Amino acid sequence: MTKADLILKNASQLITLAGANNKPRTGAGMSDLGVIEGGDVAVKDGRIIEIGKNISMDADQVIDCTGKIIMPGFVDPHTHLIFAGSRENELGMKLKGMTYLEILEAGGGIQRSMEATRKASKEQLAAEAKKRLDRMLVHGTTTVEAKSGYGLNVEDELKILEVIQTLDESHPIDLVPTFLGAHAIPPEFKGKPGGADEFIDLMISMLPELADKKLAEFCDIFCERNVFTKAHSEKLLTEAKKNGLGLKIHADEIENLGGSDLAAELGAITAEHLAVTTDEQMEKMGKAGVIGVLLPGTPYALMESPEHYPKARSMIEKGMALALATDLNPNCWTESMQFIISLACYNLKMTPEEAIVGATINAAHAIDRAADIGSLEIGKRADVIVLDIPNYEHLPYHFGVNHVQTVIKNGNVLVYDSRRL
Ligand code: NIG
Ligand code: FE
Repeated sequence: MTKADLILKNASQLITLAGANNKPRTGAGMSDLGVIEGGDVAVKDGRIIEIGKNISMDADQVIDCTGKIIMPGFVDPHTHLIFAGSRENELGMKLKGMTYLEILEAGGGIQRSMEATRKASKEQLAAEAKKRLDRMLVHGTTTVEAKSGYGLNVEDELKILEVIQTLDESHPIDLVPTFLGAHAIPPEFKGKPGGADEFIDLMISMLPELADKKLAEFCDIFCERNVFTKAHSEKLLTEAKKNGLGLKIHADEIENLGGSDLAAELGAITAEHLAVTTDEQMEKMGKAGVIGVLLPGTPYALMESPEHYPKARSMIEKGMALALATDLNPNCWTESMQFIISLACYNLKMTPEEAIVGATINAAHAIDRAADIGSLEIGKRADVIVLDIPNYEHLPYHFGVNHVQTVIKNGNVLVYDSRRL
């Protein structure tokens, strides 16, 4: 008889999210958590081998989950993990009423983080990012998408993507790399006639090497006023597609330049932010199967008023699949998907069920990993977390604290009693 490596037993709710994994969940599908009351999960060789009630199987280790919930590890599908320095000084500027684009124009924002990141060695960047990954793990995140974008030249963008590759190999969290060289116009090109076009061409010239060395799986661009236009985005993403990269776009974060139309037209896997997206664009993305990655931490950090929050309810109504992410970056610095789930409910009016789908299975779809992670099903990777709450509604409801007690990554218990082993 098979002996499991580990069995998690008797959770008050086992949130499986089991279901068809061939496409992201939409509409009513975003409310289906596949809850088993009094559920167990058995793990062997890093995979789930049995799931259900009263599993009777020998195991090397048994963890009693009475009174707790079990769910898949969080997937964070949008982060700017690699940066040097910090920008706490901008909090005061925001409190005085300066906007994000004003801070950027004044040489702050991405520009300032770029300066610090260019100066930093690979070792320094890796050491700082490792601390963030450790915090993420303790807060229940087991897979993270990581974007480049604070190098803004060939050498430093490559440096960042190499750090992501090294961390993916050395840290238990799995990293999915995205090339966001077109994150801002660097000073060498800014203000120069045709400078932005020239910079886009430079970023395009990097694509073959990135694809070849598997330094990036996706390509992203910040389509925004004073940053890159829809035409720049179309040019870069079209070339990225030719090089076999998946497409992502920072669209409609502050102003609507048609980035979400482009996402639908080019068949992007995701469009991210979507704070000022129109109903027509939502419908278009819904039909094209573009996943909306919503980042409720960002309007919170930007001190936006509610009319500037992504219209999650309309998006779901228009047939879009939604995922949630932290957007971890020096402007919006949180490692906690639990906090994001809470903001999604209280500010974006997503239900607890929709927010949990957005932070697990749909987030896995947003980085093309849904066949392997994002739900608890036989054969899937054993990325499992145990939370010390009696039911899943407590996750958004009881906020600002870490409910995650146990984290299992690839079948290994890495966090126990909320402490890293
Ligand atoms: O997604 N908006 C563009 N990029 C990041 C912010 C980066 C920064 O401010 O450093 C975002 O919010
Ligand atoms: Fe971002």
